[in-house]
Amino acid sequence: MSGSSGRAIINLDIEGPVISRHLYGHFAEHLGRCVYGGLWVGEDSPIPNEGGLRLDVVEALRALDIPNLRWPGGCFADEYHWKDGIGPREDRPRMVNTHWGNVEENNHFGTHEFLALCELLGAEPYISGNVGSGTVREMSEWVEYLTRDGDSPMVALRRANGREEPWRVRFWGLGNEAWGCGGNMRADYYADLARQYATYCRDHGDNTLYRIAAGASDADYAWTETLMRQISCFGCEATPKNFFQALSVHYYTLTGPWEAKGSATEFTTEDYYRTMAAAARMDRIIQGHSTVMDAYDPARRVGLVVDEWGTWFDVEPGTNPGFLFQQNTLRDALVASTHFDIFHRHAERLAMANLAQTVNVLQSVLLTDGDRLVRTPTYHVFEMNRGHQDATSLPVHLTTSDDARRPVGDATLTTLSASASVRDEAVLVSLTNLDADRPAEVTLDLRGGTLAEPTARILTADRLQDHNTPEHSPVSARPFTELRAEKGTLTLTLPPHSFVTVSGRRA
Ligand code: AHR
Repeated sequence: MSGSSGRAIINLDIEGPVISRHLYGHFAEHLGRCVYGGLWVGEDSPIPNEGGLRLDVVEALRALDIPNLRWPGGCFADEYHWKDGIGPREDRPRMVNTHWGNVEENNHFGTHEFLALCELLGAEPYISGNVGSGTVREMSEWVEYLTRDGDSPMVALRRANGREEPWRVRFWGLGNEAWGCGGNMRADYYADLARQYATYCRDHGDNTLYRIAAGASDADYAWTETLMRQISCFGCEATPKNFFQALSVHYYTLTGPWEAKGSATEFTTEDYYRTMAAAARMDRIIQGHSTVMDAYDPARRVGLVVDEWGTWFDVEPGTNPGFLFQQNTLRDALVASTHFDIFHRHAERLAMANLAQTVNVLQSVLLTDGDRLVRTPTYHVFEMNRGHQDATSLPVHLTTSDDARRPVGDATLTTLSASASVRDEAVLVSLTNLDADRPAEVTLDLRGGTLAEPTARILTADRLQDHNTPEHSPVSARPFTELRAEKGTLTLTLPPHSFVTVSGRRA
């Protein structure tokens, strides 16, 4: 079957901004089976664990070079009181997780358990503090407990709980979704609170916080503008005032309205294209917030952090609606691969991005079933794209045939997507063909150098709906050998609905 075609000009000697490894970040909330059952099984569990932390999950995440982990929420962050989660586990107070299923939270996974997990993973912690229902003092003391050395009331408490040395905690969230579950605040009110809370989140010793203000939802550029006004020095060259170093934005890929988001596994080709058009909106959303930020911070010192992204479908039939458990198909993987192309294009402004969520919730990279573990199709995209972490982006100029563009509702979806980077002379090119039925012939027009010893890998499946289970994982990365090299070009025919990476050495 003939298909679309594209030509990607990649100048191997023209380097763009660095793609921070933190664009490959993750997010773990006290929600459903993400923490309990997913990351934490407790020390007495027959499931292999270290200090209660599930080792198969740790190993799988380490294989992704997981750079950071955001915790404890999400909406949960704004009703979490950290002192409930320290000290002997049997003495910790219980609470009701009102956002997520009204279930009991026993606080067995708290500060020490989270930091132990980050140490095992080799990932930087990103802690979201409680602005919605907490106090300035509570947040200030948490920072002191975690990061101060020497002698102080919080340091003494930490030592009494068995941790002598402070942890290094850089990423610090000032609440979450303050416009919604984080307190239903107006932008001006939250902006003042963010300044106030940030003031008392001190840098102790040589631990320097990177404070992240709770940003907008979707295309709410007015929220971003209100926050940027707090930290800008409009019309002068000065560094933005230091209340916070970044602000966030949340954007989820929805296929239908909230009341009918559709099934994660049973969908039509038309639904699939709607999902992909919704995913592509991420580009405009980042661009929109970035443009607002540019007006106040042309030097781009303030980071934009997409600390929640991913697909959101109806929960799997028969599961707790408050647990947000959904399967993950090849469609999810292609949402991820095209998101990464977008993130790479915005590498100059984007400081971090966090997939929602790591295990058993929304677009997870891992699913657990008792003692069994499944690597989802999305997992494989993170794994295949690992080489982009902290690499220098190589701008890609992609032109496509007309039939690589299709109308989807009011939007036009381009069915080819690409990005490229180089790290220590190792070049990585990512290519996605979103066309559900037709292949796409892509020519990489390599200029300013050559690509020595090119190899490729592919992620695809017979059907868009294919997914992995403990018994069978048909959606896994495989070698892809159909590369044709010719006078400075490399041509590949991407099968329908596929993600391909090409690696080689810059020569
Ligand atoms: O990821 C699920 C929820 O989505 C988060 O708790 C919240 O921040 C967002 O609305």
